[in-house]
Amino acid sequence: MRELLGSGGALVYKRVSMEHHPSAVAVRPVESKGDRDAAFWIRQRVFQDEQKVPPELEFDADDETAMHFVAVIDGEVIGTGRLMQYEGYAKVGRMAVLRDRRRRGVGRALLEAMIAEAARRGVTHLVLHAQVQAIGFYQRCGFSVTSDEFDEAGIPHRRMERNQK
Ligand SMILES: CC(C)(COP(=O)(O)OP(=O)(O)OC[C@H]1O[C@@H](n2cnc3c(N)ncnc32)[C@H](O)[C@@H]1OP(=O)(O)O)[C@@H](O)C(=O)NCCC(=O)NCCS
Repeated sequence: MRELLGSGGALVYKRVSMEHHPSAVAVRPVESKGDRDAAFWIRQRVFQDEQKVPPELEFDADDETAMHFVAVIDGEVIGTGRLMQYEGYAKVGRMAVLRDRRRRGVGRALLEAMIAEAARRGVTHLVLHAQVQAIGFYQRCGFSVTSDEFDEAGIPHRRMERNQK
């Protein structure tokens, strides 16, 4: 994995604004049990506790085949997302940042890392199912809405797509 991803597996490393002191967010692919546990813990906090998604819907078979990512600040895992590859496109999913760490560029860093990983594999077309409340976030990262609203896990969603430049 590391040799495919380059030095240290860190795909994104940049400054994000923190309240009193600037810290850097690093995004890395999940390669250890510790990172996987942390990623799933965040999903439980965000999707199950906060959004009331039933656990049997939150974790699925795609978790076994997806490439998972974590965002880390000062050694603490604070965000996650997963990337799945299909014929001709890749799908981003399960993006979650801890509530008190949002709006500081962490979600963007995660998404950019997944976009970069797809590009590295030669995949130019990305899709995702966006919760309606998160559409603005994905639009800022280059995705466009391509479907009407539909239900997933009791939450309204719309399909969004992005073609690599
Ligand atoms: C959606 C989520 C992953 C975004 O993460 P984040 O770290 O807050 O996002 P960022 O700070 O990187 O935001 C990047 C840009 O999108 C904007 N943005 C973030 N969340 C937004 C939202 N819900 N609606 C509109 N714009 C949003 C930010 O203001 C920022 O804009 P800017 O570049 O103009 O400054 C996070 O809010 C989250 O975990 N939400 C709960 C779970 C969820 O909804 N996941 C998505 C399921 S499809």
